[in-house]
Amino acid sequence: MTTTTPFLTGQEIRDRFLQFYSQYKHQILPSASLVPEDPTVLLTIAGMLPFKPIFLGQKQSDFPRATTSQKCIRTNDIENVGRTARHHTFFEMLGNFSFGDYFKEQAIKWAWELSTKVYQLPPENIVVSVFENDDEAFKMWEEIIGVPPQRIKRMGEKDNFWKAGPTGPCGPCSELYYDFHPELGDDDIDLEDDSRFIEFYNLVFMEYNRDADGKLTPLQNRNIDTGMGLERMAQILQKVPNNYETDLIFPIIETAANIANINYQKATEKTKVSLKVIGDHVRSVVHMISDNITASNTDRGYVLRRLIRRVVRHGRLIGIEGKFIN
Ligand code: SER
Repeated sequence: MTTTTPFLTGQEIRDRFLQFYSQYKHQILPSASLVPEDPTVLLTIAGMLPFKPIFLGQKQSDFPRATTSQKCIRTNDIENVGRTARHHTFFEMLGNFSFGDYFKEQAIKWAWELSTKVYQLPPENIVVSVFENDDEAFKMWEEIIGVPPQRIKRMGEKDNFWKAGPTGPCGPCSELYYDFHPELGDDDIDLEDDSRFIEFYNLVFMEYNRDADGKLTPLQNRNIDTGMGLERMAQILQKVPNNYETDLIFPIIETAANIANINYQKATEKTKVSLKVIGDHVRSVVHMISDNITASNTDRGYVLRRLIRRVVRHGRLIGIEGKFIN
């Protein structure tokens, strides 16, 4: 990365995203609760969730464009937390949304401008993916933005067709990846290689509704739903080896390390994993409780209870006895 790329705090990354889209007439809205209105999921799993009824045409939006920093919880990757550089239960998703207003070309142009001008990522450090048959998106990246064709990868349904669940609004997507090692060249680019690439921004061209039989019907409007991982952008701009060592999570890790009388930098890999799990899960637990979720044996209350138990277990593993706080 060039030395001109700025160091930005998590707060600055969040503010710059919201301000960027606000100047392009997006209404800045507060994060919705982690307890979703949508009955199909237990927790808010994506920035688009609060807008699902609008995408489905069941509700009218007060604004044609919106931007948010949405708190989210996903537990499907819980076993990877602390073991990879980037998995979380709690994360913030920065998003810009169009409700039947602008579509693919404008979303791509703004995503590029934000990434290269506001966050100042060098263009040669960005690789993009498109859905396998989305020739239109491929052409826009190549001809309008100027990304070399060998750095635009076509990917299948698993990676580049986004859906919130088995049914509901969905569509092909295009993702921006940060390349930590552009010097390795453009041959054999493997976006699954997370020692080299991290996906940081997903642009969903939301134009279908999927029914229970898997049938796709065009939505009344063509919409845009995007998601940028705040913690991932922080890892990139703070030049740290993983999301946990960003200013968004590391203070919690340091506090736990102090309580356990451990020096994080000198700790074993196993201890670091425990500290990272604590750093991640404490954020989930605090935000769930502040959204009025209580620990129980069912549903989201059980998710909270499981996360608390895991924090306690990892605290015990690194030698914290008795109470965590005096
Ligand atoms: N809904 C998409 C995602 O979660 C983009 O926000 O990745």
